[in-house]
Amino acid sequence: MSFAGKHIIVGVTGSIAAYKSALLVRELVKRGAEVRVVMTPAACEFITPLTLATLSGSDVVIDMFPADRSKGTWHIHLGVWADLMIVAPASANTIAKLAHGFADNALTSLALAIRCPMVIAPAMDTDMYLHTATKDNLDILRRREVDIIQPESGELASGLTGPGRLPETHVLMHAIERHFRAGDNDLRGMAVLVTAGPTQEPIDPVRYIGNRSSGKMGFAIAEAAALRGAAVTLVSGPVALPTPEGVTRIDVESAREMHDAVMKYYDVQNICILAAAVADFTVSTPAEQKIKKHSLGSGGMQLALDRTPDILAGLGERKGDMLLVGFALETENEQENALRKLKEKNADMMVLNNPRVEGAAFGSDTNVATLLFADGEHEELERMSKAQLADIIIDRALIALRKR
Ligand code: CTP
Repeated sequence: MSFAGKHIIVGVTGSIAAYKSALLVRELVKRGAEVRVVMTPAACEFITPLTLATLSGSDVVIDMFPADRSKGTWHIHLGVWADLMIVAPASANTIAKLAHGFADNALTSLALAIRCPMVIAPAMDTDMYLHTATKDNLDILRRREVDIIQPESGELASGLTGPGRLPETHVLMHAIERHFRAGDNDLRGMAVLVTAGPTQEPIDPVRYIGNRSSGKMGFAIAEAAALRGAAVTLVSGPVALPTPEGVTRIDVESAREMHDAVMKYYDVQNICILAAAVADFTVSTPAEQKIKKHSLGSGGMQLALDRTPDILAGLGERKGDMLLVGFALETENEQENALRKLKEKNADMMVLNNPRVEGAAFGSDTNVATLLFADGEHEELERMSKAQLADIIIDRALIALRKR
């Protein structure tokens, strides 16, 4: 996406990750944005203003009180000028000040003067990030609709390991892109149905057969589609995720319930994306009461299982003009198996991933996928955030739909 004509403020605070702001500024300028950088005094300990001034092609704002006294209202002008402000990295100290409305330096003053959306990318040591004070401050900002980019987990400058790392530039870029995309509305007038999460097949009232799906991929797709203007129905198995804004969510537990919900809503959809990890088998006769082990004697126990309905195949049989996207989770002969599923289930596109590949594990915020298309084409994608992958899946689905 080109950022030509977009006015973006990059705020930089005192964090060891401040050097990465240079990469962000360079990328934004490369994509055509006009960039102004504002730094806290602490940020200047980590990266020189000259670097960021050179890359942005503009003076960097650091002083609240510029030498030229006629420019005393700079923050108001810049606040009106900006289409988006991103603070990356955002230190614990600056997050606290933003949460409580302090205006004691150029960055925090500007943050109060902007009229545009704000994105922040916290980066700090794990203990500071996990501290209740920081969590509370981030909650305050979230309630104010500040877009908070989750820090990545990994080894930190201190040698400790945990969440707190500033994500790679492409993740920051994607978060920015999403804000501009929301105005794009390229899915306006379309209905999109997404399935997400695991299913749970009851054994008795307290136990079930389930799987490790977190639902993050499906939720990211639902969120991306809603941001791009679609009317989104999200049929979700049991997950611990908040409903993305503007999305109609239907909660289900078992494969049968998911099947019935999808069949109720499918015929008005333009695109169906089935990201759920649906159980292939369900317990034939779940016990009505909790199974007591003494009732089973001293030996083991056998469960009789029945096949569940295949939702993707069911939609494939009656898809009409709808574009159908499935997921394939494979650990061996990946492409061959996924292609077979695509054909057998009459899908238009399959998103193939292998949970054993680094960056594609269950519950991870990133994924490594290959897209397979009904015409035999395939596209191997690098490791990226699930939010980014969600937009690419939608982009490709739209292209396939327009080709018809
Ligand atoms: N799927 C579905 N209903 C099922 C099983 C799977 O709709 N009962 C969908 C999934 O949501 C996914 C695709 O089918 O989009 C592939 O799921 P997967 O479990 O990988 O494939 P299976 O067909 O179940 O094959 P296998 O378990 O043999 O890999």
